[in-house]
Amino acid sequence: MVEIQQSVLVPRHVAIIMDGNGRWAEERKRPRLFGHKAGVDSVREIVETARTLGIEFLTLYAFSTENWNRPSSEVTGLMGLLKSYLQSELRAMLKNDIRLCCLGQQDRLPAEVQSVLQQTITSTKSCRSMTLNLALSYGGRNELVHAVRNLAQKCQEGILQWQDISEADIAAHLFTAGQPDPDLLIRTGGENRLSNFLLWQASYAELYFTEIKWPDFKRDQFMEAINIFNRRQRRFGQTSAQLNAE
Ligand code: FPP
Repeated sequence: MVEIQQSVLVPRHVAIIMDGNGRWAEERKRPRLFGHKAGVDSVREIVETARTLGIEFLTLYAFSTENWNRPSSEVTGLMGLLKSYLQSELRAMLKNDIRLCCLGQQDRLPAEVQSVLQQTITSTKSCRSMTLNLALSYGGRNELVHAVRNLAQKCQEGILQWQDISEADIAAHLFTAGQPDPDLLIRTGGENRLSNFLLWQASYAELYFTEIKWPDFKRDQFMEAINIFNRRQRRFGQTSAQLNAE
């Protein structure tokens, strides 16, 4: 079992691109949905581990704006898994003091998913130990368009002057408003790209790519990623000498 090393800094916010479910299933000559089902088990284990470690924000990329283009049977299957996950986890979320938030175009989700999602968000809104963000029908570019439109409207209404728009104003109009940026962004499944995930927020995130496919990404693999994160020096544009002098 991989243990978290002594005196580690636990990242405040971890974001994960959960990739590789389909290939994991294909390797086993099973339909893709079998891989997504196995992926839900990893979701449960990683949420539990993150909460135990004291991670304050965990963001999971569960369904992208581009995923609507998948075969309708796969989209329907994923929506069903999402709904049953939310229904089955409410009790555990409340017990573990986990607040659920949704990043993305909630209004594009099927009505019954929207309804369960909204109930879970409302029921857990006072939970404080960890925030679980599910990115659903989420795209980073779409999120920025949404923010720009809201800011433009405020300018038109005279609430804001365009010359005064700051980075903080943009951050405050994203789905993650009020939350810290991710410190660590993990992508499973062997691809080395962001795929439209948290484009603004990931500016200074440490990126960790692993070949391990999402259904095989469990507690030990997560601990390993956090231990590697701890060996990196985050310089935020400064030099090592400056940081060492602080
Ligand atoms: C990417 O793997 C994964 C997805 C598009 C969906 C992720 C969904 C889950 C883990 C389960 C449902 C989520 C929750 C929160 C209950 P892929 O299918 O693109 O894999 P591939 O690249 O191997 O084809």
